Amino acid sequence: MSAHGTAQPMTAHKSGPLKGTAAVPGDKSISHRALIFGAMAIGETRITGLLEGQDVLDTAKAMQAFGATVTHHSPGAWSVQGVGVGGFREPADVIDCGNSGTGVRLIMGTMATTPITATFTGDASLRKRPMGRVTDPLSLFGTQAYGRNGGRLPMTVVGAANPVPVRYALPVASAQVKSAILLAGLNAPGQTVVIEKEPTRDHSERMLLGFGAALSVEKTSEGNVITLTGQPELRPQSVAVPRDPSSAAFPVCAALIVEGSDILVPGVSQNLTRNGLYLTLVEMGADIEFQNPRTEGGEPVADLRVRFSGDMKGIEVPAERAPSMIDEYPILSVVASFATGTTVMRGVKELRVKESDRIDAMARGLEACGMRVEEDQDTLTVHGLGAGGMPGGATAKTHIDHRIAMSFLIAGMAAKKPVSIDDASPIVTSFPIFEGLMTGLGAVLSHGIE
Ligand code: S3P
Repeated sequence: MSAHGTAQPMTAHKSGPLKGTAAVPGDKSISHRALIFGAMAIGETRITGLLEGQDVLDTAKAMQAFGATVTHHSPGAWSVQGVGVGGFREPADVIDCGNSGTGVRLIMGTMATTPITATFTGDASLRKRPMGRVTDPLSLFGTQAYGRNGGRLPMTVVGAANPVPVRYALPVASAQVKSAILLAGLNAPGQTVVIEKEPTRDHSERMLLGFGAALSVEKTSEGNVITLTGQPELRPQSVAVPRDPSSAAFPVCAALIVEGSDILVPGVSQNLTRNGLYLTLVEMGADIEFQNPRTEGGEPVADLRVRFSGDMKGIEVPAERAPSMIDEYPILSVVASFATGTTVMRGVKELRVKESDRIDAMARGLEACGMRVEEDQDTLTVHGLGAGGMPGGATAKTHIDHRIAMSFLIAGMAAKKPVSIDDASPIVTSFPIFEGLMTGLGAVLSHGIE
């Protein structure tokens, strides 16, 4: 099944050394938030480096539907004329968030405390994903939601006319749920409190402070206690979106497993809530130099010099690291295939409710490529075959999931035989320049199935 109509099969072939600079696009999480917070400020927010992937374009369209004016000036340069906290108007049509869980969940939170009604939908992948994790806490503000069985889209959300502030301890480690509650709390009087046991990405908190909200984060024995004072006037900002560490993961991991590679990946986030993959790779013995540490767009970043690492070892990845690398397990399981020994990834059950069931998608695809893999509800184990060891010669199903698609293409660059994917079309959601960037480094990709 394809995200956008016709499936686009693609094949990756064993590639020569990857060389050069991999300038990956803007961060997806920060791009969504820049548009949404811009829409809630009064006046013009200017954004540079915005990711022009389909997920973010769908959020831009949604912000227009709720009354903000969103303008595209030049590549990556956008502006948003915001309507202010509580200023959203009722959209005239259904809001289609495409493939994006972040888009739909954050936007539901943003409109939940304004007395308007909106109906949300998405593609076949998004319509399978659980929304109750967001609508349950939103109901505490007084918001009502009517969806399909199991809290699935399409879903109609009726914003609370007289919202009350909320105190909520997150039952799952989810930045999307945390952010939806904080966004709803913006238009509730008094203090909204979110407690997270395990820290998740903190871009909403950073951006709320940047836009002038009163927010504090206290580290306690319960976890992070985040307190937001409602009904602030948000001031428009200039947002420089840093590059996406989750996209950078693909060229970084490709260089580690393709023999002779030596690449530079500039401006990769070192934000502690996003850098779990990089810690893990270093523990496995990856040759990564973190050069020129600095701050960009309010995020700590470094340039990564990455060289082929033929002697990586399998490791145990602890469960508590999962939130800081939640989107990186598919590509880590590819790297684990080219390490010696076993890699055990624990605490990964959230992967089952992403764009696809990523544990199942990776396990089945890796098995087809000749790897031995074990899984249970919360663990993925890969028995590595060392450098160049993956047999390949298979077609992986991507299940409308960009990260599954890119992971298997990277695998094919280092496997003995080519690896195909049934559909590369979902890659546009997060990394529209993937093919050109990877072939520019020397990767061999072809259209169709081998
Ligand atoms: C995101 C949070 C994560 C991540 C997603 C982006 C965000 O989801 O998987 O790609 O921008 O807040 P969860 O918060 O549901 O784990």
